[in-house]
Amino acid sequence: MNGWVRTYRQSKNVGFIQLYDGSCSKDLQIVISPPQGTFLTGDCIKVNGELIPSPKPLQPFEVSCHSWELLGSSQGDAYPLQKKNMTYEYLREIAHLRPRTSTFSSIFRLRSHICYAIHEFFNLQNFFYVNTPILTTNDGEGGSSPFRVTTLDPGEKDFSQDFFKEPSLLCVTGQLEAELLAMGLGKVYTFGPTFRAENSHTTRHLSEFWMIEPEMAFADLRQNQTLALDLLKFVVKKILTNHSDELECLQKFDIHPPLDSLEKFLSTPHSLISYTDAVELVQKSKVSFEKQISWGDDLQTEHERYLCEKVYNGPLIIENYPKSLKAFYMYVNDDDKTVAAMDILVPGMGELIGGSQREHRLDILEKQMIDKHIPIDKFQWYLDTRRFGTCPHSGFGLGLERLISWITGVINVRDAIPFPRTPGNCVF
Ligand code: 4AD
Ligand code: MG
Repeated sequence: MNGWVRTYRQSKNVGFIQLYDGSCSKDLQIVISPPQGTFLTGDCIKVNGELIPSPKPLQPFEVSCHSWELLGSSQGDAYPLQKKNMTYEYLREIAHLRPRTSTFSSIFRLRSHICYAIHEFFNLQNFFYVNTPILTTNDGEGGSSPFRVTTLDPGEKDFSQDFFKEPSLLCVTGQLEAELLAMGLGKVYTFGPTFRAENSHTTRHLSEFWMIEPEMAFADLRQNQTLALDLLKFVVKKILTNHSDELECLQKFDIHPPLDSLEKFLSTPHSLISYTDAVELVQKSKVSFEKQISWGDDLQTEHERYLCEKVYNGPLIIENYPKSLKAFYMYVNDDDKTVAAMDILVPGMGELIGGSQREHRLDILEKQMIDKHIPIDKFQWYLDTRRFGTCPHSGFGLGLERLISWITGVINVRDAIPFPRTPGNCVF
């Protein structure tokens, strides 16, 4: 067995090593009798021995060590992970070492299981996994905050001399290209990194995050909602059924997966309200919000959390938002005031999913683009989908780190990704 020493203690004539190799949430006890040498937390060792039933009920088995070899010493007191009561802020500063803690190895194993479950779900539903560009020249949301990509020297502004001969960006979404692919493949999904240069210092925002974006031809907003709920349920069920040991491990370290609430989500019908009803509920509530709203205003986080946690006490879909609040590509409803948009909110988090039915009628889409100052000439390729055999279609975006945070109970999305990028921080 190869692994790293979590702890070492010696009693009388026996030495006990708690060894981990990252494969699961449990340590393996190595018993050395009589003790030979001493071990430091973080040491990497190779152990030869015999796997035997454990005499104490603390673990089912242990290894009786015959010989061992030091592969890498951890240099004693300098090893930063020995401190007691390390805060999550401190651990973020040493993000290169935190995968070695029980907490973060569990979180990152869960991240892997969640990703795998998402792929499994889409594969079972006959979606094709597609890859959309990361380097792009379109800001797919219109008015989002993209990162610029350039090979020009600082100060140079002549983009005709730039690598792509025009201003280029990191993608904020893969949606527009996913729509193109859905017109040829029917049902597709992307699963990739997206980048936003928003100056948001919250527990829910990252500058680089991973997004899952399904796109379905011949689907309306209802079918979109069903797909989103089915996906969430599939993933939650997989994790609760197959990886409860990892969730239990987190509880030991003061992270509390909302197990009851997740179970309830699996067994109860979903809640769905319109934006208009949401505003009315906020206005009628007795809670004193920091911000009052009227129809047409964006729901603030405090309002979303009130609706989701206090009124509905579980995941909540809000649909049909004012068209002024949402992106240019959303389907304009018959009232000509709202669009067929949906946000899915979850307790403790707020928005987990954002999606819509897409505007597939060329004339209305063009009008929306003009109204929202989208440079139509640069989007002819996008409009071609509406020119040549257009059809109703829908999709959504699910933020991976928010999904992980919701399921695991991790408070800050910065702890749901190995190396978080946030304003002022791009280390490692
Ligand atoms: O609501 P958003 O901006 O929607 C889109 O980008 C659409 N193009 C998706 C689509 O319809 N295909 O982002 C979707 C989700 C959010 O609900 C949230 O979970 C996550 O992406 N998200 C972020 N996660 C972490 N940090 C950020 N800065 C995020 N911005 C969005
Ligand atoms: Mg959104």
